Amino acid sequence: MRIGVLCSGGDSPGMNAAIRGAVLRGVEVHGFEMVGFMDGWRGFHDGDTVPLDRLAVRGISPLGGVMLGTSRVPPFPDGVATPEALAAVRARMTELGIDAFLLIGGNGTQTVAQMLDDAGIPVVGVPKTIDNDLGGTDYTFGFDTAVSVAAEAIDRLRTTGESHRRCMVLEVMGRDAGWIALHAGMAGGAQLILLPEFPESVEQICEWVLSVRDRGRSSLVVVAEGFRPAGEADVVTRAGLDGFGRPRLGGVAEVLAPRIEERTGIETRATVLGHVQRGGSPTAFDRVLATRTGIAAADAANDGAWGTMAGLHGDRVELVPLEEAVGALKTVPAARYEEARLSFG
Ligand code: F6P
Repeated sequence: MRIGVLCSGGDSPGMNAAIRGAVLRGVEVHGFEMVGFMDGWRGFHDGDTVPLDRLAVRGISPLGGVMLGTSRVPPFPDGVATPEALAAVRARMTELGIDAFLLIGGNGTQTVAQMLDDAGIPVVGVPKTIDNDLGGTDYTFGFDTAVSVAAEAIDRLRTTGESHRRCMVLEVMGRDAGWIALHAGMAGGAQLILLPEFPESVEQICEWVLSVRDRGRSSLVVVAEGFRPAGEADVVTRAGLDGFGRPRLGGVAEVLAPRIEERTGIETRATVLGHVQRGGSPTAFDRVLATRTGIAAADAANDGAWGTMAGLHGDRVELVPLEEAVGALKTVPAARYEEARLSFG
């Protein structure tokens, strides 16, 4: 069997380890021939492939980024899986001699995987996203690395913030779910954690900041980029609007900081951590998780378990149907937020 490995969506530390795990198991144990598509679906459309064997994946686990490149290029024109678009995918697979796909990606990618599976195209998913918002798995690789980077940023901001008696607002990634903010904020003992799932008013935020000051401390506020103050879902940041006229993510900390300063009289600074969270070497946890999910995906292909994704459940990597993975976004439950709120204000 000849399997095409493709990475799609934003990169996530651990993707190289996942490729290595899948290739070592797939080529060495199951006897597959494996090729990688460069830059996601762009490489598929253009026939830009590289052979994947033991030599090609040697020493790549500790490396950040992804050896194949990744992109948000869609597999289908306009992102719609029409019968014509699916026929074009099948025709391209035949031209390239590809029997099956191993798709490494987050929500968008696994949704595409499900569309392919629905059309009878053999596919197995490997979950990745730093946001950790994919269903069907307890954790996705890349998340632990992002949390470590964000927690370190909190530690550093705290010392400079306290020296100046300032309120420091740190924005971390998290488009629809606040997992990075929740974990980094708990790890760093943030006084306030703001998540997309739980809007709070600016008034309430300022009350917390003032109560921290009354206890003689300086506030460290962690905010997920997808957070919007209660009643202000449409607030526009410096990121502006997208092509559909919707507010883009990125920069909510810069909206909050001056408003906190104005209302509380406490000097406030904003830091937007951005892509630093996605870059660099993966943590050991992410390397191990990525390697294990890659191995499980290769095993799934060998067993013909198409339409599945390799998810982490407790300490076991198990296959779940793709619809379980993409059915509902995995958001932060109220009970987890409640734990974090213990240290608020
Ligand atoms: O989905 C992962 C993610 O890192 C989000 O947290 C963030 O909103 C987005 O990707 C950033 O995307 P890009 O790298 O395309 O700016």
